[in-house]
Amino acid sequence: MPSSTQMLRSFSAVIVTGGSSGLGKAFIEHAVTLHPEARVCNLSRKKPAINIAEHTLRHVACDLEEKTEITRAAEEVLIFLRSVAPDGRVLLINNSGFGSYGRFPAPTLEHQLGMVDLNVRAVVHLTGLLLPTLKTRGGAIMNIASTAAFQPTTYMATYGATKAFLLHWSLALNEELRGSGLRALAVCPGPTATNFGQRAGMRIGSVPDSLSMTCDAVVGAAFRALAAGRAQVVTGWKNKLLVAFSAKIPKPLAARGSAVALEKFRLKQAAPSSS
Ligand SMILES: NC(=O)c1ccc[n+]([C@@H]2O[C@H](COP(=O)([O-])OP(=O)(O)OC[C@H]3O[C@@H](n4cnc5c(N)ncnc54)[C@H](OP(=O)(O)O)[C@@H]3O)[C@@H](O)[C@H]2O)c1
Repeated sequence: MPSSTQMLRSFSAVIVTGGSSGLGKAFIEHAVTLHPEARVCNLSRKKPAINIAEHTLRHVACDLEEKTEITRAAEEVLIFLRSVAPDGRVLLINNSGFGSYGRFPAPTLEHQLGMVDLNVRAVVHLTGLLLPTLKTRGGAIMNIASTAAFQPTTYMATYGATKAFLLHWSLALNEELRGSGLRALAVCPGPTATNFGQRAGMRIGSVPDSLSMTCDAVVGAAFRALAAGRAQVVTGWKNKLLVAFSAKIPKPLAARGSAVALEKFRLKQAAPSSS
């Protein structure tokens, strides 16, 4: 089995969404550390605060909730590939995403729809636009799902469902790509120390430190899984146990269990529905 470094050096370019913070930023930092010759292109609204030369890291400012911006961003990515990394395999990391905590549709229906647009639609759209080039050049598509994909997530109903979509879509895509020189990996992190929780409206410290992983640990596990040729990875042994347990119980019971867990670990009481 190749090491993460050998695996990364098999790519000439890395395309990342959401590299401005958290996991996406860590993916970029690990990629350029392990493979300094790689050319990296980031797609997010804010520019990543990473001290890397412009010829190594290109930032394409875009709001991936917007359909027209995805089309424009994909064109910029293709220009980037043609100009700075015209040959060699490409790694696409679909990482941008957010969640929200509360009773549906809190905080607003618009917010929930934006989540579906970013977590689901943008991934399918961007991957579809880049697919011909990825197939011609070979490479890999890494989709950042979540342990939330494995059971209903009460109080994060839409978020969990978007991640269930991403997990199943990624696994099926990987099979369709078999033998093509391109493959897909679904990465399923559990709680990770990023801005995610705060953006989702959770109390700071609501997830105990003992259950949270660092970005470095998640990215390390994701790259090892890619090197091992796997189709899915749940990061960390505690998350693996949780996922194995959820798979064994009926889904309605899992929905009730997640309600109890998320009430306990996140807010004392979910805000009452506005309707
Ligand atoms: N942290 C966790 O506990 C956890 C657990 C499981 C899975 N995940 C998944 O991991 C991925 C990364 O999240 P994170 O934890 O690193 O959170 P984060 O620190 O909040 O990062 C989210 C990234 O998504 C980008 N993003 C958000 N809205 C966007 C938009 N409209 N257009 C383009 N990019 C957008 C952000 O960039 P801009 O704001 O600059 O646009 C940011 O770089 C997400 O898919 C999340 O669901 C996280």
